[in-house]
Amino acid sequence: MEKLLVKGRKRLVGEVMISGAKNAAVAVLPAAIMAGGKSVLENLPNIEDVSCICNTIEKLGGKCIRRDKHTIEIDCSEGIDYCATFEEVQRIRASYYFLGALLARYKKAEVAMPGGCNFGKRPIDLHLKGFRALGATVEEECGFVRAYADKLVGAPIYMDQVSVGATINIMLAATMAEGVTTIENAAKEPHVVDTANYLNMMGANIKGAGTDVIRIIGVEKLNGAQYAIIPDQIEAGTYMIAAAITGGDVLVKNIIPKHMDSLTAKLVEMNVKMEEGDDSIRVMANKPLRGVNVKTMSYPGFPTDLQPQMAALLSICNGTSVITENVWENRYQYIEELCKLGAKVDINGRIATIEGIPHYQGAKVEATDLRAGAAMILAALAAEGTTQIDGVRYIDRGYEDVEMKLSTLGADIQRVLDKN
Ligand code: EPZ
Repeated sequence: MEKLLVKGRKRLVGEVMISGAKNAAVAVLPAAIMAGGKSVLENLPNIEDVSCICNTIEKLGGKCIRRDKHTIEIDCSEGIDYCATFEEVQRIRASYYFLGALLARYKKAEVAMPGGCNFGKRPIDLHLKGFRALGATVEEECGFVRAYADKLVGAPIYMDQVSVGATINIMLAATMAEGVTTIENAAKEPHVVDTANYLNMMGANIKGAGTDVIRIIGVEKLNGAQYAIIPDQIEAGTYMIAAAITGGDVLVKNIIPKHMDSLTAKLVEMNVKMEEGDDSIRVMANKPLRGVNVKTMSYPGFPTDLQPQMAALLSICNGTSVITENVWENRYQYIEELCKLGAKVDINGRIATIEGIPHYQGAKVEATDLRAGAAMILAALAAEGTTQIDGVRYIDRGYEDVEMKLSTLGADIQRVLDKN
């Protein structure tokens, strides 16, 4: 197995280019199978989750032709299977998008229950409730979901809870339903908007993405389209925090600064100097940092996917900080690993109380999921001595060329093969 070795206490200085958004890519790629023609998708991140989705499309009988590191051509014009019940599907959570896409195109879908990061129950009841509202019969049995309908008919759908995946999945299914669908209490994340923009390029009729109410007028068919996805808000935030945690000076490039507002505001509150450009943010941490309180919320609130990374930073700030995780029921498994590096954190349900320490001490730690792995890297960058991080496979799911990007900024980080 591979591991990362990090020698800490190196200031990060320089520029880093942010890749395309993982959570947009894993929605836009399944959406492409709905088209009767070829799509060319650009600015895709070169990460494991994209490869996994492409493997699924190919196993369904579609064509995925990689034009370059960040561009993939998807062609399902010859038709594909509607049963996605093989191993790849169970590896990542975003596989649930094949339900909405196949149901839209074929009015039937059979998909294995998705996998993904383990931080508590991750139901998909809201997705299925949306499909039923559109007229589908949906059955769950032995780890599969079967959905089918003579036809899908647009309907008003009120989301019991804000859900990124359910909002996107229902939007996929409704795109080719007969009539009008409204999704109320919709998620407003940038990747929801990105997926709607791509669908509209394909000929869909979707309005209101990015607001609480998305209105979809069903169309007969969709065509392929050329589309470049947005930059990754969470990767960008991870590198902004890397600059802050090492007392560095980093220009984070190829981003949409607006998407970073909640983190930018927090870093300013912590005494970090920020300079916003059109498609970049410069992060300068040359003063002692203050602890702050953070509450994770759906967009435009502070993203839950930056919660572990923020905890790593707050652990070496002055004073006491409190994090409240409002999205996932149990997203603190990584805290045990962070404490091996010296962090002082008390967990009480969804609340983490963090006492600042002067600095971390290098140790052997494990990435328990994708963003937890990012938090381990951040803490290691600020630790005295060397830190070994196992579970690199999680990090590769969502971070392209992580050690190359960090080394370019001056980090001492290398990927090694673990003999035992
Ligand atoms: C997406 O997951 C992201 N994954 C997650 O990012 C992210 O943490 C999450 O949105 C919140 O922003 C992808 O986009 C592939 P939700 P998703 O549906 O869609 C509950 C990462 O690191 N819920 O918005 O699964 C759910 O349990 C990953 O990139 C239901 O109860 O999240 C949670 O408490 C980790 N029933 C809340 O809603 C449902 O049917 C929000 O979940 C669906 C969700």
